[in-house]
Amino acid sequence: MHKLIIGNWKMNGTLAEAESRARAIADGAKALAKVALVVCPPLPHLDVVAQALGESPALLGAQNCYFAEKGAYTGEVSPSMLVDLGCRYVILGHSERRHQMGETDEVITKKLESACAAGLIPIFCVGETGAERKAGQTEAVLLRQLKSLDGLRGKKLIIAYEPVWAIGTGLVPEVADIVAIHTFIRNNAMNLPQPPILYGGSVTAANAGAILAQSEVDGVLVGGASLEPASFLSIAAAG
Ligand code: PGA
Repeated sequence: MHKLIIGNWKMNGTLAEAESRARAIADGAKALAKVALVVCPPLPHLDVVAQALGESPALLGAQNCYFAEKGAYTGEVSPSMLVDLGCRYVILGHSERRHQMGETDEVITKKLESACAAGLIPIFCVGETGAERKAGQTEAVLLRQLKSLDGLRGKKLIIAYEPVWAIGTGLVPEVADIVAIHTFIRNNAMNLPQPPILYGGSVTAANAGAILAQSEVDGVLVGGASLEPASFLSIAAAG
């Protein structure tokens, strides 16, 4: 299976920057037959990025959606609106939404279900905080978060293991720890077909090779290092 290299651009950049970054990635993607690329720009940049990617093998994802299909939800965006814009993927359960926007497991579960129903492939993020890790609660936290998948047997989705303490910090778990946790997730996410499991948190061109070399790692979810096309493409080249 091709390794999946997903860029989460978060809330960064202008429309013009998004367009030129997408063009550079579209160009670079042609030479990368061994990996599958996905980019997740901010919502207002999705349309321009979709045009810039054109027929490139790099695909489009969003960073969030709401669970309702339509109605009086000021400021929200439905899964089918994302499909309309050309999105194939949507990131859900990211730690920044769990911890900064107060999204609960219950809300994330509903979002996962409606994204799948609309035909999007969720990139479902799970991971423990530094305090939870120190307290020996990593597995309990992951089991609680993975319960969001209980109603999604048979649905196409991706799991991203993103330890919160590794996101944007430059800290990365030992490769052996990543492998152990991916194995734990694989044994406890009972969805069939088995979802790909990605690692995310301070992935760079320097550490991507060692992480992607593990058969238990199906790809990476990249934040900061996905903003420079050259660094994103060299992470992809390591896959
Ligand atoms: P980072 O972010 O690569 O900047 O650590 C990863 C993520 O939040 O998906």
